[in-house]
Amino acid sequence: MVVSVIAIDGPSASGKGTVAQRVAAVLGFHYLDSGALYRLTALAAEQAGVDWADEAGVAAVAEGLAVVFAGERVTLGGEDVSLAIRSEHIGVGASKVAALPAVRTALLQRQRDFARAPGLVGDGRDMGEVIFPHAQLKVFLTATAEARAERRYKQLTGRGEAADLAAIAADLAARDERDRNRPVAPLRQLPDARLLDTTAMGIEEAVATVLGWWREKTTLNT
Ligand code: C5P
Repeated sequence: MVVSVIAIDGPSASGKGTVAQRVAAVLGFHYLDSGALYRLTALAAEQAGVDWADEAGVAAVAEGLAVVFAGERVTLGGEDVSLAIRSEHIGVGASKVAALPAVRTALLQRQRDFARAPGLVGDGRDMGEVIFPHAQLKVFLTATAEARAERRYKQLTGRGEAADLAAIAADLAARDERDRNRPVAPLRQLPDARLLDTTAMGIEEAVATVLGWWREKTTLNT
């Protein structure tokens, strides 16, 4: 049986995580937050004293991740790390370890294993190109750099964390640059992906747009 897959790729703080989760909930599909796997790898490497630039060392950490996703909660070796992996520091580490080919290879099958019936919504940078190239629907979800920096600022201050808008904008720009220009699985809009620019769009409208595209696809194929 072919499992339905919706691949949603895009830059940091574009809102793709929220949109992907809501779409998955409406359709009753599983959800893969692939960025969380890179964040978990960065955190686990740091905890084990492995340098983020040590490709073989970090790949071994990625291979052995003892991670459990339970709704919003993520545990690593039994410890709740749901908040720890969301810090800016770990976000930077994630984008560094994600540029190492051996780390991406180590996480490949783990990501594909999330595709189970009735379907999956995967969110990340290379869902449509590398992990699920046969996804029935591919979406490139983005927003301007200013809108994304503001969203991340609100997210952090909403959690009570100190945040500086200019520093966030600079950090996002550096991360985008790394994600777009790396030799392996660079972030880019694929020719077969639909573009969803959420700069002037609320979450509900973005979710409805993706669901509309999905219905179009499934109606055409039945
Ligand atoms: O999406 P999120 O911000 O949680 O991802 C953290 C980092 O992990 C990104 O900056 C990106 O470098 C990396 N990533 C990736 N491929 C994915 C998902 C995330 O390289 N599929």
